[in-house]
Amino acid sequence: MEKMVNSKRNILIFDKYDQISDFAVKKWEEISRDAIKSKDFFAVALSGGKTPAGFYEKLSNCRKGFYWNKTHLFLVDEHFVPFDHEESNYQMIKHHLLDSLRIPMENFHSISTQEDTPEKSSENYQKQLKDFFQLKAGEIPTFDLVMLGIGEDGHIASLFPRTSSLRESGPLVVAVSLNRVKNKRISITLPVINNAKNIIFLVSGYDKAQVIKEILEEKNMMLPASRVDPEKGQVFFLMDKKAASLLSSRYV
Ligand code: 6PG
Repeated sequence: MEKMVNSKRNILIFDKYDQISDFAVKKWEEISRDAIKSKDFFAVALSGGKTPAGFYEKLSNCRKGFYWNKTHLFLVDEHFVPFDHEESNYQMIKHHLLDSLRIPMENFHSISTQEDTPEKSSENYQKQLKDFFQLKAGEIPTFDLVMLGIGEDGHIASLFPRTSSLRESGPLVVAVSLNRVKNKRISITLPVINNAKNIIFLVSGYDKAQVIKEILEEKNMMLPASRVDPEKGQVFFLMDKKAASLLSSRYV
């Protein structure tokens, strides 16, 4: 089932979504155990979207071997909408994960959207990251794990194809405002993603098959997902057979 394409890109194809989330839960346990052993906390950035909902629900039942009081949850992006809005990533994660998990509230680092503008929100979130990771000027945070989804257009977090936010190399967080995208957004930038120790993509369904082929086989570098290439980390593409259905047989 597993196919190594290069030393840091692991492509795993599963029959069903349920197996993807089982594998992701196992990986989470392993990565968090190592992180806590070496520095006494585990920092993970979570994505919104529909795909991770089942995984978050599974995770919300995990107790033994999961050190929630030493786990710090961040968001990879947020929609600039109120917290109780149906498109708020905070709301989605609260509903599927936090509500049934006993995690200290201060361990959940949401992106505030109460500010007047997404720019102000992104500045505040950047400050939160700098404070938590105790960064000096020019330093980039190192997440133990970044969880990502992939849009049909190849976007990750709120970094969309052919946009300046994709080229940002200075800020850790950007405000994204595009006519073609519903809601203004706040997103961590590519350098932050690529500085993570582990990146897990969760991808499911036939509607992702074309973009998966463009990322993995055609290596279309215009797609933000193709630019995920952590210098020191590992990448895991966890996908179901539907999402992998257009890949050539060397993967499946
Ligand atoms: C968001 C996400 C976004 C998402 C992709 C895939 O806030 O919407 O963080 O990047 O992961 O759009 O979404 P699905 O899982 O719903 O396909």
